[in-house]
This record gives sequence, C-alpha cells and structure tokens, in this order.
Amino acid sequence: MIIEVGNEKGGVGKSTMAIAIAAYLAQLGHSVVLVDTDSQKTSSRWGELRTHHGLPHNFVIVDKSVDPTEHIRKLAETYDAVVVDIGARDYARLSDLAKIVDLWIAPTRVGQGDLESTVELAYAFEKADRNHKNGKIPLVICPNAVPAAWNSTEGEDAIAALREALPNVPVTSNLVRDRKVWRDAHKLGRSIFEMPLRDREKAEAEFKAMFEEVWKAYENFQKGVKHGH
Ligand SMILES: Nc1ncnc2c1ncn2[C@@H]1O[C@H](COP(=O)(O)OP(=O)(O)OP(=O)(O)O)[C@@H](O)[C@H]1O
Ligand SMILES: [Mg+2]
Repeated sequence: MIIEVGNEKGGVGKSTMAIAIAAYLAQLGHSVVLVDTDSQKTSSRWGELRTHHGLPHNFVIVDKSVDPTEHIRKLAETYDAVVVDIGARDYARLSDLAKIVDLWIAPTRVGQGDLESTVELAYAFEKADRNHKNGKIPLVICPNAVPAAWNSTEGEDAIAALREALPNVPVTSNLVRDRKVWRDAHKLGRSIFEMPLRDREKAEAEFKAMFEEVWKAYENFQKGVKHGH
C-alpha cells in the first residue's frame, strides 16, 4: 500500500510522522520503503545519520525528488508499505501523488494559519477526487505538536474547528503532543521507538493511539470502495 504524508504548510511534522510510520510498520514485521520526495531531504539525511551512528536499517530509504509517482507505484509492487514524505508548498507534486495514494495523512499544527492551510488542502483534494483511482482521495487529518500543558485546550479546539469546516473528513481525536523526544530522536538518527522508555513513553502512546485511529479511517475508506461510493 501507498501511504503519503503531506500538507502544504511547512514544519507541521510531515517528515517526523513519515519516519515514525515507516519505523512502526517495520517494527510490526512489514517490508517498508520510505520515499523522500522533498528536495530538503529531511528523511534521507536522517537515514544517513543512522548509518553514521551504526544503527540498523529496519527499512529502506529512497531519495526521489524528481518524478516520483511512477517510481512509487513500482515500489508498491515489491514492498508491503511505501511511505512517502512530501515536501511543503509543492502543489503540483501534491495533486499528482494524490492520484495513486491508498492513505493520505495530513499532519497539522493547531495554529490558526496551520488550520486554514489544512482546510485549503482538503478543499483542493475534494476537487481532485475524480482523478483518484477510487474516486476519493483517502485523507485523514492528524493534529501534531499540540501543546502538552495539562490546561491547554488548543488541540481539542482545533479538532472541533476542523470537523466543523470539514464534516466529511476524518480528523483524529488522538492528538500527538509537542514532546522533546521527537526532536531529540531526529537529531540522533533514531525513531522514537529507539529512545529510552522514560523519554518516549508518552509520545509513543500518543502516536500509536493516533495511528490506530488512522487505520480505522483507512478501513472505512476501503469499505466505501467495496460498496461503490
Ligand atoms: N510532536 C512533536 N513534538 C515535538 N517536536 C516536533 C513534533 N513534530 C515535529 N516536531 C519538530 O518540528 C520540526 C518540524 O518537523 P518536520 O521536519 O517533521 O516537519 P515537516 O512538515 O516535514 O517540515 P518541512 O515542511 O520543512 O518538510 C522538527 O524540528 C521536528 O523535530
Ligand atoms: Mg519535511
């Protein structure tokens, strides 16, 4: 299957989530390739850092910033999961890649500008649905880097705002909060699953709960395909 992680906005956690998803699926025993289509090469550099630190490669990383669509389609014939890290502000690329996707994960931060740009992405996808192989781009929105303070309601407020603006798009209730371990892991060329338990515990639980919800949304999309709507 092809899982693409993208949004128009920069710095919302696309690379972070793409790496975590690839690492998680590999840990579950699937064959995984992570395709970096971003000219910034965040995921590829992370992979190089792993090599530098002598860390094992649990999944393959492919650097493909030019014409990736056909390449991704080919990889999907070989691997259980092709996870694609897509660069920001790349409208042409976004709509081209959306045609072939089985599951599109759009991480969003919860600031006003981030939410607006996420709503714009969903509108753009709605218009592009007819170009998708199943007639609907399977988009799931995941709030990320949500303030972790116990009294902050920003995450819940963002979910409510997104659901009101986009009643037909799944938005996960399980939030991934802003936790230092995500940044620390990245700097070390590690996935969060390779960080010390006390550091990763909360982030890992949040990620897994979010991914479980994303997976349910994916299954619902699949049911929709079977029933022809
Ligand atoms: N949940 C989180 N908690 C803490 N820091 C996070 C979280 N998610 C992402 N970050 C940090 O935010 C920064 C941006 O994340 P990332 O590079 O994944 O975003 P991106 O959307 O891929 O950015 P770009 O548009 O540049 O490709 C990084 O420093 C990353 O470590
Ligand atoms: Mg990135």
